[in-house]
Amino acid sequence: MHLIETRDLTYVYPNSVTGLDRVNFIAPRNSRIAVIGANGAGKSTLFKHFNGIFRPTSGSVLIRGEPITKENIREVRKFVGVVFQNADDQIFAPTVEQDVAFGPTNIGLDEQTVAHRVQEALRMVGMEDRAERVPHHLSGGEKKRVAIAGIIAMEPQVLVLDEPTAGLDPQGVSDLIDFINSLSRKYGMTVIFSSHEVSLIPEIADYVYVMSKGQIVAAGSIGEIFGRQDLLTSVRLDVPLLPKLIRSLRDRGIDISMAYTYQDAEAAFLRAFKEKP
Ligand SMILES: Nc1ncnc2c1ncn2[C@@H]1O[C@H](COP(=O)(O)OP(=O)(O)OP(=O)(O)O)[C@@H](O)[C@H]1O
Ligand SMILES: [Mg+2]
Repeated sequence: MHLIETRDLTYVYPNSVTGLDRVNFIAPRNSRIAVIGANGAGKSTLFKHFNGIFRPTSGSVLIRGEPITKENIREVRKFVGVVFQNADDQIFAPTVEQDVAFGPTNIGLDEQTVAHRVQEALRMVGMEDRAERVPHHLSGGEKKRVAIAGIIAMEPQVLVLDEPTAGLDPQGVSDLIDFINSLSRKYGMTVIFSSHEVSLIPEIADYVYVMSKGQIVAAGSIGEIFGRQDLLTSVRLDVPLLPKLIRSLRDRGIDISMAYTYQDAEAAFLRAFKEKP
C-alpha cells in the first residue's frame, strides 16, 4: 500500500479550466519525490488534493489506501502536512510562536507537548530567536520558514512542500536541502516537493514526476529524467548545470562519468582530470 496514490485524478476549476488531467501519482514510504513543471502545469493543484483541500472532479486520491472522507480528514491532515506555495495563505496568528502552535493545539496535544514541538520546529527552520515576532511583518523567506515550522510541528509522516526554495536566500536554500534530507534519513519521512530550480533537485530527490498542462508526461529516477534534454525543453524546463557541463565535455571526447549531484560531479571531475602517472 502506498502512502499517497492518485488514480486518473482529474480536477476542473469552477471556471472550467482543467487543473489536472488523469494524473496517476504514487508516493512510496520513505521516498523523496520532486514534481517539476512550468508555471500552470498543475503542481499546486495536485498538492491541494493530498490533504483534501480539493476534491477530485473525477478519479481518486488514496491516502494509505483509503479515500479522503469527512470522517478521516483530521487523521489525513495529521498524516500529510502541506506547506503552500504562498506562505501568506498559511500564516495568521498574532505571533510566530502562536502560529506554529496552532496545528499541534488543534489536534489536541497537551500544552507542554505543544510548547516543546513549537520550540523544536522553530529551531529546525532557524527561527527560534523570532518566536515573539508578528508573522505579518516578517520577510518573505522568514514567513516561508514559519509556514514550514507550523507543518513540521504536526510531525506528519508525509511532508509536501510547494516551491519551498522560492524566496529563500542561498544559505536558506542550503539549510532547507539539509533539513529535508535529514527528515528523510532520521525520521523516515516521505517528502514531496515542487520546484523550478532543476539544479537543486538531484540534491533532494530520488524520483521525479514531470508535469505539463495538467498531465504527468514523464516519471523516473534523477538519471532517467535529467538525461533527457528534449523532454525537459519541451516542457519549458532545463537540464541541471552539472550534467549539462559533463555532457558537453563528453561530446568533446573527455572521458568523464555522468553525475547529477555536486558531490558525485566533484568525484567525477577529480577522476577525469587526475594526472596519469
Ligand atoms: N483558482 C483557480 N481558478 C481557475 N484556474 C486556476 C486556479 N488556480 C490555478 N488555475 C489553473 O490551473 C492550472 C494549474 O495551475 P497550478 O497553480 O496548479 O500550476 P503550478 O504548476 O502550481 O504553477 P506554478 O509553477 O506557477 O506554481 C493553470 O492553468 C492555472 O491557470
Ligand atoms: Mg504552483
